[in-house]
Amino acid sequence: MNNFNFYSPTYFVFGKERENETGKYVSRFGGKKVLIHYGSGSVVRSGLLDRVKKSLQEASIEFCELGGVVPNPRSGLVYKGVEICKCEKVDFILAVGGGSVIDSAKAIALGAVYDGDFWDFYNGKRVEKALPVATILTLTAAGSEGSTGSVITHENGMLKRAANSDLLRPVFSILNPELTCSLPAYQTACGATDMMAHVMERYFTNTKNVEITDRLCEGILLTVINETPKVLADPNNYDARANLMWAGMVAHNDICGVGREQDWSSHNLEHELSGLYDVAHGAGLAVMFPAWMKYVMNNDVNRFAQFAVRVWGCEMDFQNPENTARKGIEKYEQFMTSIGMPIRFSQLGAKAEDIPALIKTLALGSNTMGSFVKLTEDDCRKIYELAV
Ligand code: NZQ
Ligand code: ZN
Repeated sequence: MNNFNFYSPTYFVFGKERENETGKYVSRFGGKKVLIHYGSGSVVRSGLLDRVKKSLQEASIEFCELGGVVPNPRSGLVYKGVEICKCEKVDFILAVGGGSVIDSAKAIALGAVYDGDFWDFYNGKRVEKALPVATILTLTAAGSEGSTGSVITHENGMLKRAANSDLLRPVFSILNPELTCSLPAYQTACGATDMMAHVMERYFTNTKNVEITDRLCEGILLTVINETPKVLADPNNYDARANLMWAGMVAHNDICGVGREQDWSSHNLEHELSGLYDVAHGAGLAVMFPAWMKYVMNNDVNRFAQFAVRVWGCEMDFQNPENTARKGIEKYEQFMTSIGMPIRFSQLGAKAEDIPALIKTLALGSNTMGSFVKLTEDDCRKIYELAV
């Protein structure tokens, strides 16, 4: 196992009706003037936004609001949010929604205390300061409620890029599984796919002797595989929603990724797809992950065989572990299909003739990406071709 530091200070408030305690927690974490940030209307229609405002009023906390975040959140609204924060002297940002809302809130938190362009942080500038962000999560998927990351698409060129820092971990996150019962089946399945991908980006590693994190990863994957069909069959299954909600958090706050090299190529390949076609991130991952797996499998066929046996219950073929490894990838694809996810370009609406454009925005040049296998631009092109 490699040396590591792990700092994950988010305070989690989990369970039924916990959003009614928002005001108390904003106060506890020092918020005096709050920007409530939300998406394109689901939290208005569900009445959640009103409950949150009531809770803030009861705690005598001042607030202003900015809605309108779209999936694959854009830079334009971030600039608007930064301006509001500066004019209104906002000192705390409350994201009410899914990963896109939380990521947009994190971007505003960066820009609000910076004189330059917030986009600098998405071009690699080190984060030194940000307003505190808290979240009320309505969609289990991106893990942004506990993660260091924020992913924004710049409208100039539709470049989708990430910023990362411990300072971007929310100070608190309210996780009420009931809030996720209104999710359409497709969003639920995209979420499950994203959670699994967060685990698999960590699972496929060259680091040896990482039994604890291997087993944590396998446990999370098994949970998602067992619970997702239950919520698709019965969207109001509270316990299954609750298990998925916590799985989404532990899949990406890095507790199962510490001490080991992580890969992240499939995510980078996917970000170009959702940047170009504006498809759901989870759906893009369902297409890119199997293609990546097939391309890199022979780098460590035993690790892929372990994945097949421990996660998918495949029989180990000791004579030819490659057969077992392939079966695991097949099982993954079958599971994706069973929950309604695409696994090929055409099902996603992506086109083979756009591969040069995807490679161009990936902008790898002569660099490589990933760590399980270091991919060149040519490798990436071949992986996109395998996904067609
Ligand atoms: O905007 P509203 O009206 O709220 O509707 C949303 C949106 O249309 C809807 N929704 C959310 N909660 C709902 C609901 N509909 C009904 N009932 C509810 N309870 O769902 C749609 C999708 O929401 P979005 O926030 O875009 O989805 P998700 O949480 O999957 O976030 C995706 C974004 O997160 C990024 C992705 O790239 C993508 O941009 N990621 C962020 C990461 C991070 N910050 O650590 C890591 C991930 O790998 C990922 O890249
Ligand atoms: Zn993801």
